[in-house]
Amino acid sequence: MPIMNLPKEKIPKKLKNGEIKVAVFGLGRIGLPTALLFAEKGVIVYGVDTQKSIVELIKAGNAHIDEPSLAELLKKVLENNNFFITSDSRDAMNKSDVAIICVPTPVKADKVPDYSNIIQVCNMGLRYLKRDDLIIVESTISPGTIENVMIPLIETNTGLKAGKDYGIACCPERANPGQIITNFRSTPRIIGGYTKKSTEITTALYQYITDAEIIQVSNDRTACAVKLTENIFRDVNIALFNELAILYEKLGLDIIEIIEAASTKWNFQPHYPGAGVGGPCLPANPYYLIQEAIKVGFVPYLIRMAREINDRMPQHIIELTLEALNQAEKSVKNAKIAILGVTYKPNVHDFQLSPAISIIQILTQLKAKLSIYDPLIRQEDISQLNFLQESNCMQSLEMAVKDSDCIIIITAHDEFKRIKLENLKKMTATPLIIVDGRNIFNLKEIPTDIIYIGVGRKKLM
Ligand SMILES: NC(=O)c1ccc[n+]([C@@H]2O[C@H](COP(=O)([O-])OP(=O)(O)OC[C@H]3O[C@@H](n4cnc5c(N)ncnc54)[C@H](O)[C@@H]3O)[C@@H](O)[C@H]2O)c1
Repeated sequence: MPIMNLPKEKIPKKLKNGEIKVAVFGLGRIGLPTALLFAEKGVIVYGVDTQKSIVELIKAGNAHIDEPSLAELLKKVLENNNFFITSDSRDAMNKSDVAIICVPTPVKADKVPDYSNIIQVCNMGLRYLKRDDLIIVESTISPGTIENVMIPLIETNTGLKAGKDYGIACCPERANPGQIITNFRSTPRIIGGYTKKSTEITTALYQYITDAEIIQVSNDRTACAVKLTENIFRDVNIALFNELAILYEKLGLDIIEIIEAASTKWNFQPHYPGAGVGGPCLPANPYYLIQEAIKVGFVPYLIRMAREINDRMPQHIIELTLEALNQAEKSVKNAKIAILGVTYKPNVHDFQLSPAISIIQILTQLKAKLSIYDPLIRQEDISQLNFLQESNCMQSLEMAVKDSDCIIIITAHDEFKRIKLENLKKMTATPLIIVDGRNIFNLKEIPTDIIYIGVGRKKLM
C-alpha cells in the first residue's frame, strides 16, 4: 500500500486491516516496545534485528531487555500472530510500507558521532525501499543527518528522491528507561518531516498508537534538534550542580541544603550532583550537536565544558575516597572497598557508559581489593562486561560490605536507600567509611562515629 499517496484520514483503517505494514529496524530498548505498540493495535509489524540471538530470543517470547510490562506485552502480541521477528531486512522491507529506524547512534572513542548503524540500515533494508514508502527515524541523530547521510545513500541505492518518491521524517524517542511503555503511551511526540506531507502521514501513524499529544515542528532538522536540546539541557544543568558541589565541598557548605532552600524560588530548577552521568544518551548526544556546530564554525564552549565536568566526576569520587581513607589513616592499596551499584541508572538493568566502569578500573589500578554488588547484575553480565570479574562480584549487599574499609555508593538503587547505617557498621571495619556518590543518606541521620563524604556535602568525622 503506497502510504505516501493516501489521504491521512484513511490511514487508521488501513493500519487496522493490515494493508499498511510496518518494519522496525533495531529491536532494543526503544525498537522492541515501538514494534509491540504497533502490533498491539493490530498492525502487521516486521521487527528486524541484525543480532540473530536477539531475534531468536524474541521469537521464543523472551524480552531481552528489562522494562516494566514489556514481557507481558510481548507475550500478548505474539499470541495475535501479527508480529514477525527476523534478521532478513530485505524481506521485511519488501513486505512493508513504513520503516521505523531504532538502531543505536553512539559516539566513537574520539567523541565523533558514529552513524554506522544508520548507514547499515540505508545500505541493507532501505535498499529495498519502494516508491511512496515512508521512513521514520526514532534514533537520536543530529540535524542534517537525514539530508547529508541518509538521503544521498538512499538515492544512490534506489534511485528514489526524498520528498518526491518517498516520505522521510524524524520522530525522536523521548522515553525514559524503566518507564518506556508508560512514556510511549503518554509522552507527547515530536514529529518533523522532510516535507509537510511526511509530517502529516507520520502524525497519522503515531496518532493510531498513542493518545499523547503530537507536536508537529517545521521539519526533520528541528525535530532532531528538539531531542538534542532536551538532553543537552539536562547534561549542562547536571554539570552546573557537579561544579557547584565541588566548590561547596571546599567551602564547607552542603549542596543539598542549598538546593532545597533555593528550590523555594519559583523559577529555580533543581538538579543534583553525583558520581557521573552514564547511559546511551546524555554522554553521547551533546557531541552530535558539537560536531554540527564545528562544521559551521561555531564553538559551543558551555556544552563541551559540561561534558568534561560530568566525565570527570568518577575521578572526583576516587579523590573523595582517597581523602576518606586518609582520614582513617588507611592506604588505598589493599584496602577492601565495596562498590554498591554498577548500572548507570537506579533500578534499571543497563550498564552503558556507567560511571562505575572508570571508578572500578581506577581503583583496580590503585590495587584496592574490590567487592562489587549490584542487585541487577546477572551471571551473563559478568561474562559480557570486561570490567567485572566473577571473583569480585558479590551475590548480596551483606557479602559485599563484610569487613570492608570503605563503601562507595555509585547507583541510588532502592535497596541501598533502605540501608540502616547502624546495621552496616556491625559488618564493616572500624571506622565505617562511606563515600556517597548519590547523596542517598540524610546527613542528620548519620552516626557520628563514621566517616561520611557525600558529593558536595559537609564531611562528617
Ligand atoms: N535507551 C534509551 O534510553 C533511549 C532513549 C531515547 C532515545 N534512544 C535512542 O534510540 C536509539 C536506539 O537505542 P536503544 O537504546 O534502543 O539501542 P539498543 O542497543 O538497546 O538496541 C538497538 C538494537 O539495534 C540492533 N541493530 C543495530 N544495527 C542494526 C541494523 N543495521 N539493522 C537492524 N538492527 C540493528 C542491535 O542489534 C540492537 O538490538 C538510539 O539512537 C538511542 O540514542 C535511546
